[in-house]
Amino acid sequence: MSPIPAKIVSLQDYVDAAARALPAPTWAYLAGSGADGLTRAENRAAFDRLRLRPRVLADVAGGHTRLSLLGQSLTHPIIVAPMAFHKLAHPGAEEATLLGAAARDALAVVSAQASMDMTTLADGTSGPLWFQLYLQPLREASLRLVRRAEAAGYRALVVTVDAPVNGIRNEEARAGFALPRGISAVNLAGLPAPESPPAEGGSAVFDGLMPAAPTWEDIAWLRAQTDLPILLKGILDPDDAARAISLGAQGVIVSNHGGRVLDSGLSALDALPAIRAALGPQPAILMDGGIRRGTDVLKARALGADAVLVGLPLLAALAVGGAVGVSHALEILRTELEVAMALTGCKTLSDVSSKTLWNS
Ligand SMILES: Cc1cc2nc3c(=O)[nH]c(=O)nc-3n(C[C@H](O)[C@H](O)[C@H](O)COP(=O)(O)O)c2cc1C
Repeated sequence: MSPIPAKIVSLQDYVDAAARALPAPTWAYLAGSGADGLTRAENRAAFDRLRLRPRVLADVAGGHTRLSLLGQSLTHPIIVAPMAFHKLAHPGAEEATLLGAAARDALAVVSAQASMDMTTLADGTSGPLWFQLYLQPLREASLRLVRRAEAAGYRALVVTVDAPVNGIRNEEARAGFALPRGISAVNLAGLPAPESPPAEGGSAVFDGLMPAAPTWEDIAWLRAQTDLPILLKGILDPDDAARAISLGAQGVIVSNHGGRVLDSGLSALDALPAIRAALGPQPAILMDGGIRRGTDVLKARALGADAVLVGLPLLAALAVGGAVGVSHALEILRTELEVAMALTGCKTLSDVSSKTLWNS
């Protein structure tokens, strides 16, 4: 018998079910936003504002959702976003997520803050994997993570650049969330750390944290260290996107971290068209933040994204149904995308364009 309640038929159903099932502090961490949740809400509102252009009687027989991304052939453009501590959602943790992803041919990005060993995870899955990292205060520490990712067979590095300092996480603080014993960022344990922490001056942010935060020079340095494709995640500004590509990144992920860091920033979807315009057709542009329906995937594609990442709903599906939940959620989204493509007359993803939108 399937462990999935029959009433769960959409990604939002998984989010609602996980909110009911998990302890309130855990949910406040998993689903919590920065400050007042304005950006998180805007991520959704931006999708809801757009209308699609229905097209009828198109011959889409034999259509498909395949694409090539950074030289990799993918069955569909739906990617598992990097997320910390899957063990908070389910004891099967990242291993179960990757099992569910592989069952649906979904590329998955493993977070540096995963609750399971990155090499064990890579060894245990047949699906394609990328590795996400934050540049560490010491380059030697970043390099160790990169070498482990290379050795384990990860096919690209996702460098997250939008959270050099934590957002104002009021929901989490009010709920009194703390990481339970037995759950930690195991891949960061034992990495070389600065001998003395950055000097605390007048400002905890500018004198305490930011002196150790990465800058563009560190991206140029990283590019010279590895042959793996590099994508910068957390880009919202066209100039930043162009700089990433000029420093040798193969792509960018247009993202505001699901609204979990800077509040009051614009939605990832609204940032997308100007970034595609700045970079031209070639560089890989992915986006995430607020994807809940196949029609959202279509809208992101119409505004210039090659592929999308999905975060919270997949952790929710993991919480509700383990690997089966993740696989089911991915299948729901893929089917919804196919239905949306068929009803807008798009046989393949390359048929999706700004014309697919009514109000473009
Ligand atoms: C619980 C949780 C943990 C996250 N941890 C990370 C992380 O470790 N690294 C990272 O780059 N992004 C992290 N993110 C952000 C996601 O990669 C992604 O940008 C975001 O979830 C997309 O928005 P969505 O949740 O609306 O799909 C996390 C998101 C969630 C919900």
